[in-house]
Amino acid sequence: GWSMENVLDEEIKVIKSTVGAEDHVICALSGGVDSTVAATLVHKAIGDRLHCIFVDNGLLRFKERERVMETFEKDLHLLVTCVDATEQFLSKLKGVVDPETKRKIIGREFICIFDAFAHDLEQKLGRKPTYLVQGTLYPDVIESCPPPGSGRTHSHTIKSHHNVGGLPKDMKLKLIEPLKLLFKDEVRELGRILDVPQGFLKRHPFPGPGLAVRVLGDVTQGNALDILRLVDEIFIRSIKDAGLYDTIWQAFAVFLPVRSVGVQGDQRTHSHVVALRAVTSQDGMTADWYYFEHKFLDDVSRKICNSVRGVNRVVQDITSKPPSTIEWE
Ligand code: XMP
Repeated sequence: GWSMENVLDEEIKVIKSTVGAEDHVICALSGGVDSTVAATLVHKAIGDRLHCIFVDNGLLRFKERERVMETFEKDLHLLVTCVDATEQFLSKLKGVVDPETKRKIIGREFICIFDAFAHDLEQKLGRKPTYLVQGTLYPDVIESCPPPGSGRTHSHTIKSHHNVGGLPKDMKLKLIEPLKLLFKDEVRELGRILDVPQGFLKRHPFPGPGLAVRVLGDVTQGNALDILRLVDEIFIRSIKDAGLYDTIWQAFAVFLPVRSVGVQGDQRTHSHVVALRAVTSQDGMTADWYYFEHKFLDDVSRKICNSVRGVNRVVQDITSKPPSTIEWE
């Protein structure tokens, strides 16, 4: 029968017979569900001949690097090289305000770091890595025609993806895409069988360019990134505490390059405005803004202004997609 356990066994068999006994495989982990499940599956087949890289681009959420590295190493026993490239990314992004330019710069730097990782690995192993694991899903590959024999007839709409995986073309790596016949819910099911922690499998989607598309304008302005991380963490923590996390498709804060006048204590302030965004959605293609109870919003707003220096105003985004997009940039 067609069960996820069978799919898993089948995939492992295929990987074992495809990847030669001497071959080494690399994988870029984003911290998201897809790349994590793909890597865990491949690791089950070939063990530590799988070499993963996780890049901290300085655009990650509050304690994100520590949190995902703990999952990768303690829970999943993956071999992961963690590269702190914060300076490299932020120096390239300094002064850049155009959203598409930000995305391009981030994509380019990522390739650069990935290249260096592959070369270091080659030095260390004395041979070139031959395969690359990618967490491509079925909706990413079908376009209008499903692969022959896949048994899939579903026509899903495609969104243009600029995931962390836009990789060097001259590296001549062969692709392993163990999830390419699966939908998101099936990937979560597979992850569950592979003992990926449940909390991890339920994480909201997060864009490849990270907080760069959530700090409007220059990401290096003042301490925008630090402020945003704190605000976002309070918002997400509150959503989890209220038991709402799993009903919401995506929730996050946005840093606005705007100051407004406020009064805190007996001091007049001229500080930043942050926006809160939460949406429900099936696939990210369309989305509805989420109705929080007033009490919830009141608590979150107070917590943010009381504990995050430099913020004196909180607003909520009440637009759906369309006409807005989920992200602000
Ligand atoms: P938008 O903002 O277009 O987002 O409504 C739809 C979904 O895609 C995510 N998103 C991205 N994901 N790289 C990504 O990997 C990107 O550049 C990117 N831009 C948007 C967004 O978070 C939402 O889930």
